[in-house]
Amino acid sequence: MTSIELNPSVLEKSYRQEDWQRGYRSLAQEFDYWIDDIDGEIPAELQGTLFRNGPGLLEVNGERIHHPFDGDGMICAIAFQNGRAHFRNRFVKTAGYLAEQEAGKILYRGVFGTNKSGGWLANLLDVRLKNIANTNILYWGGKLRALWEAAEPHALDPRTLDTLGLDNLEGVLKPGDAFAAHPRIDPDCAHDGDACLVNFSIKPGLSSTITLYEFGTNGKLLRKYAHATPGFAFIHDFAITPHYCILFQNPVTFNPLNFLAGVRSAAECIQFHPNKPTKIVVIPRKNSGSQETAQQIALPTSRTFETLSGFVFHHANAFEQGDEVVIDSVCYEDLPAVEPGGDFRQTNFDAIAPGQLWRFQVNLQTGTVDRQLLEGRCCEFPVVHPAKVGRSYRYAYLAAGYAPTGNAPLQTVVKVDTQSSNRALWSAAPWGYVGEPIFVPRNQSNQPTNAEDDGWVLVMTFDASRDRSDLVILDAHNLSEVARLHLKHHVPYGLHGSFTSECFM
Ligand code: CO
Repeated sequence: MTSIELNPSVLEKSYRQEDWQRGYRSLAQEFDYWIDDIDGEIPAELQGTLFRNGPGLLEVNGERIHHPFDGDGMICAIAFQNGRAHFRNRFVKTAGYLAEQEAGKILYRGVFGTNKSGGWLANLLDVRLKNIANTNILYWGGKLRALWEAAEPHALDPRTLDTLGLDNLEGVLKPGDAFAAHPRIDPDCAHDGDACLVNFSIKPGLSSTITLYEFGTNGKLLRKYAHATPGFAFIHDFAITPHYCILFQNPVTFNPLNFLAGVRSAAECIQFHPNKPTKIVVIPRKNSGSQETAQQIALPTSRTFETLSGFVFHHANAFEQGDEVVIDSVCYEDLPAVEPGGDFRQTNFDAIAPGQLWRFQVNLQTGTVDRQLLEGRCCEFPVVHPAKVGRSYRYAYLAAGYAPTGNAPLQTVVKVDTQSSNRALWSAAPWGYVGEPIFVPRNQSNQPTNAEDDGWVLVMTFDASRDRSDLVILDAHNLSEVARLHLKHHVPYGLHGSFTSECFM
């Protein structure tokens, strides 16, 4: 693995605020084309479709939304076949998107501060949420679904990206039910070689209910189980091992009065308490695998452990090791409040605590939690080899800042060797800004003989020097650049995505 060599002239100022801001412009147009402006060569073995989701509109007819998390979901699909690649993007045609485009103005309050026009009176007691379907996109059980954690998924045609409508997962969800945007795919669910999809939903309240769902490869529900945890729960992501689901209940409280009064968004009513402990909720999975080896760790019911973690959005992975459950997570010392009058474009990166990768070792026998810093470089959007989800693993890939310390926009991809201090880094600085990296194994069948870092990392970048976005293919071993696919336009900074070996074009 290569060591990290930084360019001193870039390090001085790896980004310009105005360049970074330009990645937050709407892309109203929907495209369909073969990508023909390519540096390098697309590996012929790279076959399948990369789906990405994120806010496509940052305003409605000139009315700015308050936070990108409130932006309407737009799907990008980049399909790879025989060394060629095809691009397509489509908005998720949610009921809210269609109504607002028709009306030419904002009609719904956003969770992150977007208010409909008319001041507090128009927003008073309006608790309708617009399902914006903007957080993740996953092809599973023959269906493509756009996910947003506070409501049901939207089903899409994987070939055309046409919106098919709200999807209740074959009757599993009731109208308005939440379904998280962070499913985990267990590569070997019942020790029979079959994968399953595990996801959760939160029903917050004075006591919050966490419901877990597991689905087979055919999309059918295998099992569903619930756990109540005291207090308000704001949980975006979770982690799994063969026997457990692990959720971090961040130390936040929610005061809904100002939300109901119309003067604050839901997110603005969440208060983070950085000096209070995070609860680590460990819920035994009810898959057959856990029954076979139930004697391995005697944990008949869910348990809660405490640690100081700061705020956690995303987990890289988790695994079992003797009496311990190990969880690797991106942690923030503080959660910047969403300010009513604030403008996210003016984010002062230097004034915000960086996200850093930490390891938590929960001892199920003694109840102790040890933690250690794995990577101090500011980072987000961790991903691991799909065959290593829930298993002991070595490499995590993350979007990261350029400088080794401090907080900054995401401009690099870092490969973290969790077993040593070795790091590899690919940089788009000073002009480029990156999103979530996606790891694609070279061998899609996940043969155990393959090296864990044998594959590619796909990352969408915004290139401010050309005012367009690129899809960059990196060699996952050393993060050398294999190919750069220049799109004909920019794509606003996205959230999450996934890769399927099925090629939809
Ligand atoms: Co997320």
